[in-house]
This record gives sequence, C-alpha cells and structure tokens, in this order.
Amino acid sequence: MKIKKVTKAVFPVAGMGTRFLPATKSIPKEIMTLVDRPLIQYAIDEARAAGIKDFIFVTSRGKSALEDYFDYSPELETALKRAGKTDLLEILKSTNMDSGAIAYVRQNRAMGLGHAVWCARKLVGDEPFAVLLADDVIAAEKPCLQQMVEAYAETGGNMVAAMEVSPQRISSYGVLDVDQDNGNVVRAKGMVEKPKSEDAPSNLAVIGRYILSPKIMTNLNKMKQGAGGEIQLTDAIAEEAASGQVFGFRFRGQRYDCGSKAGFLQATVAFGLSRPDLAEEFGAYLHDMMALQKAAQ
Ligand code: G1P
Repeated sequence: MKIKKVTKAVFPVAGMGTRFLPATKSIPKEIMTLVDRPLIQYAIDEARAAGIKDFIFVTSRGKSALEDYFDYSPELETALKRAGKTDLLEILKSTNMDSGAIAYVRQNRAMGLGHAVWCARKLVGDEPFAVLLADDVIAAEKPCLQQMVEAYAETGGNMVAAMEVSPQRISSYGVLDVDQDNGNVVRAKGMVEKPKSEDAPSNLAVIGRYILSPKIMTNLNKMKQGAGGEIQLTDAIAEEAASGQVFGFRFRGQRYDCGSKAGFLQATVAFGLSRPDLAEEFGAYLHDMMALQKAAQ
C-alpha cells in the first residue's frame, strides 16, 4: 500500500478562549504570546518542519487579528530596513506566509472540535491531513508532528499524539483504548472523549496533534453528538479503530497545556529559560524569587 504524503494541515482556531478573559475579549487566544511569539506561530513552525505546504484555518467572528498576523507588513518592513534592524526584519519575514498558502474557512456556530475540522472538508479533499491544536505547545528536539509523519509513513491509517496522564486529569482528554502496545506506536481498539476517571480505558491521553485519513470527514458528516453535546473529533476517529486503523504515538518532548492559565505560565517560564538572550537574567530572577518564597515560609 502506498501511503500518501501529508501536505495539508487544519488549525481549528474558532474557540472563544473564555478561560483567558478579559484578554480574549479583543485578541484571539492563539495570538497570546509565549515570550515574544504567538501560540499559533509555534504550531505553524511545527507544521512547516513536518513538510506541510497548505495551511487551513478554521476561524470564527472576531479572529481577524489572526489573518493580519500572517500577512505581509510592508510599512513595518520598510521602517526596519531603513533603521538597519536586519535581525528584526528577518524575524518579521519568517512569519510571512506566501499568497495562497493559507486558506480560511469559518465555523459559524461553536459545535465542537469535530465540527470545526469538518468545516475544512472541501479544502482537505480526498487526502490525508494533519490537525494541530495551538493550545498544546510541544517543546521537542525533533518537532512532534515531524516525529509523527515519520511514524505514519510506516503505519498509514490515523495517528494521534499520545501521552500518559494521571487518573485525576484523564477526564479532560480523549483517551485511547489500547489494543497493542509497541512502545512508541500503540494500536487502539477504541477511543473515548473525556471519560470519567473510573471509566477511562487507559491512562493514555490524546494530545492535540493528529494525522487523519479523509474517511474521518465522512464520519464527521453524520454529525453525531458526543461528550458535552458536541461533535467530537475523537468519536469520528474511534469509528476507524475496529478496522485497526487508529494509532497512538508516544512523542518525545515536553507538552504544555496552554489552554489553561497554569500551563501557559509553565510554558512561559520554560521557554523564557530556554532562550539564550533571556536565560541568565530571567533565571537569576526566578532563583531570587524562590529564595524569597522559601524564606517567607
Ligand atoms: C481536545 C480534544 C481531546 C484532546 C485535547 C488535547 O479537547 O477533544 O480529545 O485530548 O484536545 O488537548 P479540549 O482540550 O479542546 O477540550
């Protein structure tokens, strides 16, 4: 069987981001910055590294800042050029996307992640595609989606990023019902969206990176309501498990849940410390803070 290359990626960015109100009253949560880069930039860079050429954004009302972010900014470029700020100019240019590389479709009503992905069906067509959730930021030597593309070249089918989580947290995730555990790659015989901790089929949770067959779009056509009354991507993928076509992939890397405030702060600290231009000053500050905190206890 010839496995088709994955060149399209869907970025569901229609969510209202209520957990980050009031900030998200006027800025999309995907534009919120980790150090100095918006969340969405991390996802785009990861997709590019994995060979993605076509970027499909599923947006909603109030997300126009996202479209502007990826556009050229000739005034800013000219000003930086004039001022001789070539390093900043390079950073700015690295965010530009070629005309036609990004397509935007709207999700008119918030009906769940599965519904958001389904909104991209015409642009995806009859090809395998990736889905990246920008909330899940993954720091890794080899970007997570690239690891998955390599594993997918062997398996085909449908692949989801997976990671062990504690029983207390498992009910926030899609969870794999493991059939065969081969280490990095796990074959699933089912998947459940946000089960109660006592009903979870395993402790292996789905993280927001997917490589999916176009069959998933057909499954989503049924508009079946799942957990929380929403159309769940997990359910559409689970339908393929009976035929042995669903794989979990234990990626190598550190995942941050930037959909939560605590996760966002953790990521900010980790990314701040990993930046050569900030590590020393920021590290010293954190060190002093910890010492102060200890002294106060
Ligand atoms: C979504 C998916 C869930 C997955 C999670 C990963 O849930 O529905 O299956 O485990 O992303 O972050 P959400 O966090 O949007 O509720």
